[in-house]
Amino acid sequence: MKTINADQIPQIKLANGDFIPAIGMGTFGNDKYTPEEVSTAVYNAIKTGYRFFDGAAAYGNEQDIGNVYSRVINEGIVKRKDLYILSKVWNDMHGKGDVLVAVSKTLKDLQLDYLDAYLVHWPFPNGHAQGAGVNDRNPNARPFFIEEFMETWKQMERLADMGLVRHIGVSNMTIPKLDEMLPLCRIMPAFNEIEIHPAFQQWEMFEYCRSKGIVPIAYSPLGSAERPKRDTEAGDTAVMEMPELVKIGKNHGIHPALVCIKWAVQRGHIPVPFSVKQTEYCSNLAAVTEDPLTDEEMEIIRQADRNDRLIKGKVFLWPGAESWKNIWDLNNEIDRTGWTL
Ligand SMILES: NC(=O)c1ccc[n+]([C@@H]2O[C@H](COP(=O)([O-])OP(=O)(O)OC[C@H]3O[C@@H](n4cnc5c(N)ncnc54)[C@H](OP(=O)(O)O)[C@@H]3O)[C@@H](O)[C@H]2O)c1
Repeated sequence: MKTINADQIPQIKLANGDFIPAIGMGTFGNDKYTPEEVSTAVYNAIKTGYRFFDGAAAYGNEQDIGNVYSRVINEGIVKRKDLYILSKVWNDMHGKGDVLVAVSKTLKDLQLDYLDAYLVHWPFPNGHAQGAGVNDRNPNARPFFIEEFMETWKQMERLADMGLVRHIGVSNMTIPKLDEMLPLCRIMPAFNEIEIHPAFQQWEMFEYCRSKGIVPIAYSPLGSAERPKRDTEAGDTAVMEMPELVKIGKNHGIHPALVCIKWAVQRGHIPVPFSVKQTEYCSNLAAVTEDPLTDEEMEIIRQADRNDRLIKGKVFLWPGAESWKNIWDLNNEIDRTGWTL
């Protein structure tokens, strides 16, 4: 197994001066890979040199991954302080007092006494069961209301005060939602974890985050070809087949996946690619340490943007909302179709 010295992995400085590795590993098995397969990959990935892991209670594998964290620390492969471990509070735990309950369960499952980062997974309390289908909807789903969201965020701030989490952040937020949220924060979000890949580059959000000292974490950075059916639609871009990426990959003798990863790290957002295949996750990590893309290649990728959101989130729609577009505030104002508080 190829190993990368963790000191070679670029780091990104957060607003408070702390650092995070510029690439992580995703741990959502896409309803396809078992907790055992994912946690085995995490174990070997740590041996390979990965230090940052993107997890969530909703991925249903924190107990197995916790066994791995405990094992690598006990075996002396890595010290706790050298890992950057992120989890997320799921949508059914936004209520009063629930966030502390949720993080306590995650810490117990992961066998840790603190998390490096804890994010609000989605900005509304619209849970769905693991393995949800295309037409599954939660009858209690609701749109985003800042009053409700800040009740959740205040609980996140208290976790930071308590030392249970080092950094707090959000995920799947839009600019109109952040515009309402940020003036009300006592502790600013360190991260917004969102979909970013060459077919959905989100320049406006990227620049917005940077201007506010928020680091964008890119989920599905390779275009998530294996995503669950509930998040696919006819006509979606197959990112790995984009001719611009295939051509640049050929120039470097690498798979288009590695082009996506180099592009992400050179641009400055943090990719968290997922794979349980050792050759893939090893080469994903190695890609950020060698043979960078040229300025010209970076510009070709910039021009290749398709503005094509792949993870549409239909399963989170509330009664009254008709299209996945309602979730993403495409008219630059918060969409609450059919609802008032
Ligand atoms: N915050 C959120 O709401 C949210 C939403 C979605 C995802 N995420 C996070 O983002 C992570 C990654 O997202 P994702 O799994 O949707 O998408 P992704 O990382 O874009 O794509 C993963 C797929 O890419 C393939 N792959 C990986 N490395 C490769 C390589 N070197 N060469 C060729 N193919 C390669 C793998 O296919 P095979 O399986 O065929 O090997 C893998 O299943 C998740 O694990 C999760 O941590 C967060």
